[in-house]
Parts: sequence; structure tokens; C-alpha cells
Amino acid sequence: MNAAAAHPSEPPFWLLDPQVVFLNHGSFGSCPRPVLDCQRAWRDRLEREPIQFFVRDLEGLLDAARASLARFVGADPANLVFVPNATAGVNTVLRSLRFRRGDELLVTDHEYNACRNALDYVAGRERARVVVAPVPFPLHHADEVLEAVLAGVTARTRLALLDHVTSQTGLVLPIDRLVRALADRGVETLVDGAHAPGMVPLTLETLGAAAYTGNAHKWLCAPKGAAFLYVRPDWQPRVRPLIISHGANSPRKERSRFLLEFGWTGTGDPSAALSVPKALEVMGGLLPDGWPGLMARNRQLALEARRILCRAIDQPAPAPAEMIGALAALPLPDAPETAAPKSPLYLDPLQEALRAGEGIEVPVIPWPAPPAAGVADLGTSVQRAFALRAIGGGSAGQARPRFWGRDVRLVARERVQGAKGQGPRAKFKAQGKRPVPAAPAR
Ligand SMILES: Cc1ncc(COP(=O)(O)O)c(C=O)c1O
Repeated sequence: MNAAAAHPSEPPFWLLDPQVVFLNHGSFGSCPRPVLDCQRAWRDRLEREPIQFFVRDLEGLLDAARASLARFVGADPANLVFVPNATAGVNTVLRSLRFRRGDELLVTDHEYNACRNALDYVAGRERARVVVAPVPFPLHHADEVLEAVLAGVTARTRLALLDHVTSQTGLVLPIDRLVRALADRGVETLVDGAHAPGMVPLTLETLGAAAYTGNAHKWLCAPKGAAFLYVRPDWQPRVRPLIISHGANSPRKERSRFLLEFGWTGTGDPSAALSVPKALEVMGGLLPDGWPGLMARNRQLALEARRILCRAIDQPAPAPAEMIGALAALPLPDAPETAAPKSPLYLDPLQEALRAGEGIEVPVIPWPAPPAAGVADLGTSVQRAFALRAIGGGSAGQARPRFWGRDVRLVARERVQGAKGQGPRAKFKAQGKRPVPAAPAR
């Protein structure tokens, strides 16, 4: 890609360590140098005259950045606010809502662990019930998702929390159809679109979801701490920020309470949010056909990476190409021994072995939970490492001209013990409980 082929005298576009074959932009990708330069300039401006910046300038500056991001995601800027990350966006909505005892909150077994925890917390507080729809993986058609989710709806279902792009399994869910079908059954949807902005086109104003949160610090390549929360106008009065601040009793009438409250949640560093327009411009300028071209290219690279790996491990593609964006996940068999997580974010031994032995950073994610007695098999890791290197564009340390789209996820699946229905996943379904320990993923 042009940006990576900088002239030797120019500083590189990415700060990524050339010794590492980096295949995990989805968890924490890198932010390109021009965007970091922009962020630094915002910080310098803040520090030169803090009162001018925070008291007089910030609201207008954030309005401009919000308008730019809102345009990109197809939202009215009046309905979109900045939050620090998608986890905060999901928490903001869930923790604002009130439920009755026995109300049901619907989620899939592909939900991102942190957000599932937020749902469990709120359900516990409200004596509501979390209903988990088991969505198959591997799967053959997006309709299987629709069927699985709708099968979980009852007369008591109040809200569905759905990922737009699933973290562990890298599936782009048919979110328009899901939101519509749920609305037809009287169920509102909160969409966790952490991965979606910059991976798939968005038109939030027509989606119809009650709320949608997404990260700008993933596929838009904005600095860390830039994310948004969209809330449909009729839901705005009930959604309050996690931090109650000056906006709650502001006498101002020319802005909505929603914008007043989310516009100031205490002193912080707004430079990531303010740099979002620069990220949109820089990344959108990498290819002649702009963002549509970049999204298409990332998808093409992810599909190609998946094809190489599927061939290496002699497995069929686990999901239809239509459900792939810039992430691709492949199921792996279990290994004999159990591993304890060593990080607040799960670190699988295979992930560690590939990083230490091969210089390859690729997420190995236990799903739907760490296997009852084991983790992914290291036995054929050499073969996988060769395949991963092919995706990475050569040996670690070589020039890497094509960074984008090379997010490959290896999914360490649960051990299926004996006959169908006897494995941990079947137990999970039957008990309506989560297998323990829960598996943080990225
Ligand atoms: C579906 C989903 N939700 C939420 C998150 C969390 O994002 P953040 O850490 O920016 O809050 C992720 C991260 O990968 C994710 O995939």
C-alpha cells in the first residue's frame, strides 16, 4: 500500500515494530504517524492555553469532530456523542436502563466478554434474566444467525444486545435484518459495533437500533480513546452518561440535554476524539477509491489470509465470505493441558508460542470459553506459522508492504466430549449459564 512504501528518507507511516509480523489490528491496531502528529498538535494547543481551550474552544471543536464522524457513520450529529470506547458505550446504555423482575435481555454466545459482563451485572441488579441465543460457528448462512436470535425472543424480551461484528469469531452479523426482525417483535436493540466503523459501511440513522456504539480507534485508526455512542432521539432522555457532571443542571436551552451531558464528563484529554477527522481523511486518502476501496481491500486481504490458513490446516472456511469483513477466524482443536490466563486479557499459550518463537502476533481466542481441559494444539504450529508468515508478507523483519486486513483470529474451541449434547457448550445451553471461567477476548 502507498502509505507503507514511504521514501527511505521519510519517517514510516506506521510505528509498528518491523521485527513483528503483526496480524492483530482488530484488538489493538496501530495509529498512523500523521494522525498521531495531529493528536500531538491538539495536546500542544491545549497545554498552551488550557482555559481558552477547555472553556471557550472545546465544545465547538468537538462539535466539528462529531459532525465529521456522524457523516461517516450515516448519523445526525444531534444523535451522536463521543465516549472513550465501545465498552463505555455499552455500559452507558445498559446502566441507564431500568427493567422489571423477570424481563429478558437477549444476547448471543458470540458476545464480547466485557459487554456480556455489563449485561449480566445489570440483569443481576434489576432481577432480569439474560437469555443466550447459541449462534452456530462454523455456519453456512447468515440466516442461521437470524433464526438463532429470533428463537430466543419471548413475550418478556425487552432488549437485545448484539455485536455488529463478533469479536471472537469475526462474523459480520446481518444487523439490519436482525434489528428489523426484533423491532417487529417489539424488542429494542443495542448494537455493539466496536469493530464496524471503517470495516463495513454504516447508515445508523436508518438502521433503527435504539443505540449503537462503535470504536474509532480500531479500523478508523484514530488514536486510542476515540469512540462514539449513537442514541435514537426517543431514547435520549433515558440514556445518561456514566459520569454525571455539569450538563445535568445546565440552564442552556440551545443544546439538547443529551449533548450537554455527554459533552462534558469532567477534565480529560479530548485529543483522540478531536483527531478523528484527521484519521478519516488520512485513511480515506490511502487508495484512489477512498474508504469504500479501503474496506474492500481489507476484506479481500482477510479472505485471502483465511484461504491460506484453511489450506494449511486442511479445513473448510467456517463462515460464508459474505459474513467476513476485515477479520477472519478459524477454529482450532484443543490441546491436552489447561492454561491459566496470564493477563487481564486472555493470552493463549499458542498465541504466546507464536509470538515468542515466530515473531507473529495473532490472537488465539478461546470460544465460547476456555476448553474444559485444554487449549489449542501446538502440534502443527510450524505449519500454521508458515501460513501465518505467508499472510504477513515474508519473514519477520522484511518490509511489509500490505498491512491492512491481516487480522486473523484462531478460535480455540471447546472440547466436544462424546456424543452430541454432552460437551460444555451443550451444558451451557441447557443451564442457561456461562461456562466458567469466562473468556476475555479482544
Ligand atoms: C464486539 C466488541 N465489543 C467491545 C469491544 C471492546 O472495545 P474497547 O476495548 O475499545 O471498549 C471489542 C474489542 O475488540 C469488541 O470486539
